[in-house]
Amino acid sequence: MIINKKLEGDRIYLRTLTEQDATEKYRSWINNPEINIFLETKKTSIKELENYITTQNNDPNCLFLGIFLKENDTHIGNVRLSSIDFNKKSGSIGLLIGEKEYWGKGYGTETYKLFINYVFNNLNLKIITSGAYKENIGAHHIKKKVGFKLYKEEEDVLVYRLNKKDFFFINQ
Ligand SMILES: CC(C)(COP(=O)(O)OP(=O)(O)OC[C@H]1O[C@@H](n2cnc3c(N)ncnc32)[C@H](O)[C@@H]1OP(=O)(O)O)[C@@H](O)C(=O)NCCC(=O)NCCS
Repeated sequence: MIINKKLEGDRIYLRTLTEQDATEKYRSWINNPEINIFLETKKTSIKELENYITTQNNDPNCLFLGIFLKENDTHIGNVRLSSIDFNKKSGSIGLLIGEKEYWGKGYGTETYKLFINYVFNNLNLKIITSGAYKENIGAHHIKKKVGFKLYKEEEDVLVYRLNKKDFFFINQ
């Protein structure tokens, strides 16, 4: 699905991507072993990114947005809610801050808060799940910070759940 407005935070905004956002910089995030270590995709092309953006935007069970700095419109990452199930009122979130120089500066946390706030208030969902590889320390920190609770342990991955009530209690 697409949204026609920007979601504005303090330092960032989120918006639907277009094929024009499939830049060499975005491609370099996915192809960089330091960035993609915990991602499923390890290599891509501009054409594949264009197709990916279009597919996500056309999927009614997915919300995929780019993360941009307010001060200069720099694209620094993406956030995606996929496998949205409107009957079960659930979806699964993934986050990428693609520019390493922006890690550890709170942009991921600001993105989670802004995006999840929109999702719970506008899509009528109650549960968000998210998996992270056990070694991905940053991913565990950031999830716990906004209220995710450990739900299931698999061989390599920890699966978290966030319910609407906990999210608004912790982030009010
Ligand atoms: C994981 C990721 C999203 C974190 O985003 P970020 O913007 O760096 O996170 P924040 O700056 O908002 O930090 C949130 C908290 O996690 C901590 N944290 C972040 N990365 C960390 C790391 N590598 N090791 C230890 N702590 C870390 C921060 O110190 C902060 O804790 P605090 O508020 O108690 O100080 C980012 O590193 C990333 O996109 N990595 C590549 C893709 C990826 O692995 N995505 C996760 C899929 S689940």
